[in-house]
Amino acid sequence: MLSLSPLLSVGVLLLQASQLVLSTQTHCSTFTLRNPSVNAVVANTTFFKANDTVAITNPFSSIDVSDLPAFCRVVLAITTNATAKSTAHAEIWLPEPQTWNGRFLGLGNGGFGGGVNVADLGFVAITQGFAGMSTDTGHLSSPLDGSWAGPHNDNAINDWSWRALHLSTVAGKEVVQQYYGKPHHKAYYLGCSTGGRQGLKEAQRFPEDFDGIIVGSPANWMAHLSPWGIHVNLQVMPFDSPRFIPADTWTNVIHAEVLKQCDAIDGLEDGILNDPRKCSFRPETLTCRPGQNTSTCLNVEQITAVHKIFSTYFETNQKFIFNGYYPGGEVGYPFGLVGTFAFQILPDYYRFFVLNDTSFTIDQLNDTVIQLGETINPGTMDVVDPDLTAFLGPAHNGKILQYVGWADQLISSGNSIHFYETVHAFTQANTQLDIDDSYRLFTAPGMQHCLGGFGANAFGGTGQASMGMPPASLDAEHNIVAAMVRWVEEGHAPETLTATYWNHNNFTEGVGFTRPLCKYPQMSMFKGGNPNDAGAFLCV
Ligand SMILES: *[C@@H]1O[C@H](CO)[C@@H](O)[C@H](O)[C@H]1NC(C)=O
Ligand SMILES: *[C@@H]1O[C@H](CO)[C@@H](O)[C@H](O)[C@H]1NC(C)=O
Ligand SMILES: *[C@@H]1O[C@H](CO)[C@@H](O)[C@H](O)[C@H]1NC(C)=O
Ligand SMILES: *[C@@H]1O[C@H](CO)[C@@H](O)[C@H](O)[C@H]1NC(C)=O
Ligand SMILES: *[C@@H]1O[C@H](CO)[C@@H](O)[C@H](O)[C@H]1NC(C)=O
Ligand SMILES: *[C@@H]1O[C@H](CO)[C@@H](O)[C@H](O)[C@H]1NC(C)=O
Ligand SMILES: *[C@@H]1O[C@H](CO)[C@@H](O)[C@H](O)[C@H]1NC(C)=O
Repeated sequence: MLSLSPLLSVGVLLLQASQLVLSTQTHCSTFTLRNPSVNAVVANTTFFKANDTVAITNPFSSIDVSDLPAFCRVVLAITTNATAKSTAHAEIWLPEPQTWNGRFLGLGNGGFGGGVNVADLGFVAITQGFAGMSTDTGHLSSPLDGSWAGPHNDNAINDWSWRALHLSTVAGKEVVQQYYGKPHHKAYYLGCSTGGRQGLKEAQRFPEDFDGIIVGSPANWMAHLSPWGIHVNLQVMPFDSPRFIPADTWTNVIHAEVLKQCDAIDGLEDGILNDPRKCSFRPETLTCRPGQNTSTCLNVEQITAVHKIFSTYFETNQKFIFNGYYPGGEVGYPFGLVGTFAFQILPDYYRFFVLNDTSFTIDQLNDTVIQLGETINPGTMDVVDPDLTAFLGPAHNGKILQYVGWADQLISSGNSIHFYETVHAFTQANTQLDIDDSYRLFTAPGMQHCLGGFGANAFGGTGQASMGMPPASLDAEHNIVAAMVRWVEEGHAPETLTATYWNHNNFTEGVGFTRPLCKYPQMSMFKGGNPNDAGAFLCV
């Protein structure tokens, strides 16, 4: 090489570069998985050159972009139970060897959904240089549809609950090793909602699968989330009853009054409650006067409903069920559990997983039914056991970063706090571990379920970038995935994250403001300065 003329050596380099492209393309299209430790075969591979159109749709997720770096898409068919011939499909998206960051990133699903999370494979994994993996959870369906689980489709229930993700992770890592000729050096996971539940399940049941697990607002307690959701919904239903609260009333009347009573608590009247725990909202101030236009006030039944929706729900035997909604997120709540959305997803848990009775309607909920869900725990889907020691402890030294929006309209943010607190208490009572060394929870004021809302809500979480809300930077301050990588690989734990509100939740419209996400139990307080800048706030 040294004796070659400069011109010739450039030519050789160009030749090598084009051979590299050709050879990875061929390597991709001819790739097969040899001797996998689980029953998996390559169903399809496709090589996408840089900026090729990537347009893929399934009932759970879709992507349509033409600005990704080159990658190889490997589709695996995995047998999850040979006797039943049940299968799951997983996709592994592999960046070019020279752009691969050496890491594995598993991506979660949502609701009852079945389908590979192609959106995050592109917008998170490939964009950031990870070898990404996502499973279809063993079936194809929209997130709202649980009918695939019945009647008695136990293998499908197990696959969705835990089995497909675990087997896909094991097989996905083997694909990575055989494709690149060397193993990944660290494995990460990112998921929200059902994806959050999947992450906690992995931490508990298969602590070796991942080194760092990022969990957004987890649906980890379906046996309590489902009845709580139904309970909340029943407070305002049916539509034609006096207690029904229209969306406009939630926004223009209730939210406006919440802000009047509580917005200043964090030091800044900006329409966002930084710590709704501090807001003791009194809806009585909205009671209708004689002759008042009823779209500007609340009747007595509506006031009772608001109280119940915001309060912790107790069963008749005073057993704790779930945390109520927090004040501050009213603009989203009618599009969550106190609106029609709830009709689609809530009864399916009982219809197809617990009671196996398609005629079940939400008004039939009673204590016996609630107890049955808890006892059956279909597919062992729930993660309520607070013992995560195998993952968090010195045997594995894993890390969990959890996040939740205070305005979550589907799973009360109180559930994230409740789970964190139960793990904290267990860990403290039974181990020498300091939970802060391995498990941290960050709260996002004004953020709705997993993404969106009216607070600073873009920080690299699941689904955010693909919905037009990418992190402002891929560094560890603005991107929770990078924050996790730094924690796992450099031992530098995140104290805060900086989130961005893009105008109209669309990055093409520019930055509206930035805010810190504080580590629970801290909240952010305005200390003065430019309120659009995260630096004007303190976590205290
Ligand atoms: C493989 O994937 C390509 C597109 O990525 C598709 O056109 C083709 O039908 C697939 N083949 C099989 C056997 O699924
Ligand atoms: C892909 O598109 C970007 C932005 O337009 C461009 O800078 C880059 O050179 C393109 N890459 C290839 C390989 O075409
Ligand atoms: C596999 O499926 C068969 C037939 O449905 C069932 O009897 C068996 O319990 C299943 N095994 C596991 C491990 O799920
Ligand atoms: C409903 O079906 C599921 C799945 O087969 C089963 O686990 C559960 O026990 C059944 N429920 C009742 C009430 O029999
Ligand atoms: C009540 O207020 C609503 C919204 O402000 C308005 O559309 C409606 O016309 C009013 N009704 C009466 C009877 O004034
Ligand atoms: C509770 O609901 C179930 C399902 O609708 C019903 O079979 C049962 O009789 C109810 N139990 C009580 C105590 O009301
Ligand atoms: C963001 O805004 C642009 C126009 O500024 C529009 O084309 C695009 O569809 C919007 N994206 C989303 C996710 O709404």
